[in-house]
Amino acid sequence: MHTAHEMSEWSAFSLHESILDAVAANVAILNDQGEIIAVNDAWMQFAEFHELPVENYGLGLDYISFCESLDAPDAAEARQGLRDLLAGEPGPLRFEYQIFLDNGPLWTRLTATRISRDDRTLIVLAHEDITVQRHTQAALGRATAALLHAEDDERRRIARELHDGTAQYLTGAKLMLGAMKAEGRAEKTRVEVEALLANALEEIRSLSYVLHPPGLEEMGLGPAIRQMAEGFARRTGLALQIDIADDFPKMARSIEVALYRVAQEALANVHRHAGSPRATIGLRQAGEMVLLSIRDYGVGLPENTQATAGVGLAGMRLRLEFVNGHISLNNAVPGLLVEAWAPFQPKAAG
Ligand SMILES: Nc1ncnc2c1ncn2[C@@H]1O[C@H](COP(=O)(O)OP(=O)(O)OP(=O)(O)O)[C@@H](O)[C@H]1O
Ligand SMILES: [Mg+2]
Repeated sequence: MHTAHEMSEWSAFSLHESILDAVAANVAILNDQGEIIAVNDAWMQFAEFHELPVENYGLGLDYISFCESLDAPDAAEARQGLRDLLAGEPGPLRFEYQIFLDNGPLWTRLTATRISRDDRTLIVLAHEDITVQRHTQAALGRATAALLHAEDDERRRIARELHDGTAQYLTGAKLMLGAMKAEGRAEKTRVEVEALLANALEEIRSLSYVLHPPGLEEMGLGPAIRQMAEGFARRTGLALQIDIADDFPKMARSIEVALYRVAQEALANVHRHAGSPRATIGLRQAGEMVLLSIRDYGVGLPENTQATAGVGLAGMRLRLEFVNGHISLNNAVPGLLVEAWAPFQPKAAG
């Protein structure tokens, strides 16, 4: 631990010097004027490795001015937080921002704590390098988004295959059996086979529908949600009010798919969890965003959703993040209000 003379007056801290040297974070201690009066080993190594433009590891410097001399465009808020901390705000502070150093950019997490004893104050600062963590998070987000995308593409392909291929063969067979009727032979078998084929067709149609709603591309999100919601209400007996303008414009495919899936999942959740006899689903433009809202009048989200969470809510969140949107879930007493926001991007012509 490298300390300036002032620091040695704080005898209680000498005990902690070796502890601070043992931590991996870069730690600096500031006096109540915001001057660096001690730094740990990790700080010194960091300053050497990155050839920071300061003498004596920055000891004696005003920390905030030192920060201002670094290239960290997102750090303004952190500096203001430190000023407030020096001025007497209790803290602790926690900020994450990027610093562009000569040998590359890095992400840092700053934690600052204020310690007051008698009438003196010290600020303890810790910088953790979270660059790897940030990159991993971003890569994971990209991979998940790509996965969701691939899943939708595949569903579309399978749905089309089922609808245009398999279902057409079945239809053909059914028609031929119908034609056999005229001959009046093997009538019993004919009736049975025809019933089986009719069931198979029905199943394939609904599977193909679940995999990829056929209407979404042709009619656009508004009518597609309306059709899906009407069918859902019919099957479940839910009294569903649908607030969607008839002329709601078509939007970019990725946004329509994301919102359609969110609507499906939110309605399924109302049916499975809410215990509500009625609900409302609405779609409208709100400035530069489009808002899909689903409100029920049931039990609302349980206190601890983490414990019960399935993939539904997580999937909605990811789908929206992928299109630069977001979701909010708020208990609305009674019931739950799900609001899914996405950028309003009208479909490009042609
Ligand atoms: N409309 C709702 N009203 C009350 N609770 C809800 C509602 N929607 C979701 N929840 C609660 O949130 C939990 C998580 O929902 P989520 O959709 O993630 O999972 P799930 O529906 O249980 O399973 P699945 O993975 O099949 O969707 C549910 O188990 C339920 O407890
Ligand atoms: Mg669910």
